[in-house]
Amino acid sequence: MAWRGPHPMLLLVLLATWLALARGETRFGKFQRQHVAPPRTGPQNNRDYCNSMMRSRGMTSPVCKRTNTFIHVNNVNPITNVCGPGGTPAPKNLHDSIAHFNLTTCRLQGGSQRPPCNYKGNTKYRPIRIGCVRRLPVHFDRII
Ligand SMILES: *[C@@H]1O[C@H](CO)[C@@H](O)[C@H](O)[C@H]1NC(C)=O
Repeated sequence: MAWRGPHPMLLLVLLATWLALARGETRFGKFQRQHVAPPRTGPQNNRDYCNSMMRSRGMTSPVCKRTNTFIHVNNVNPITNVCGPGGTPAPKNLHDSIAHFNLTTCRLQGGSQRPPCNYKGNTKYRPIRIGCVRRLPVHFDRII
């Protein structure tokens, strides 16, 4: 089969990385943009919440992120604490929270990552596993 150049998805990943660097976003800043959200109030359903939050937090372009969890807290401190005394060390740089958090997980509907992005959401109250670098959260690993 003939060589046709780099996969388009690779170019999109490189573009996204370049855009992140261009706007001077740190890994901790990106973690907060993608995963830290105020407590949910009011009657908004999970679908509307996810569709609006995934967009306003910059996860729907250039492609729709497939899945993303928002951690509902008034400020980032209880999450940062998981990198220290509020967590127990897991393999690599991962830490398991002792506390439970209110969570909303958004999942892209359909197979295509091309916008417009339609999400379904569900909520949980569970501990989380995050990755930390120099005592700051930089990666959401999973709900535990
Ligand atoms: C989780 O959400 C419930 C319902 O909104 C709220 O009463 C509770 O205080 C929240 N817990 C935490 C740890 O944020």
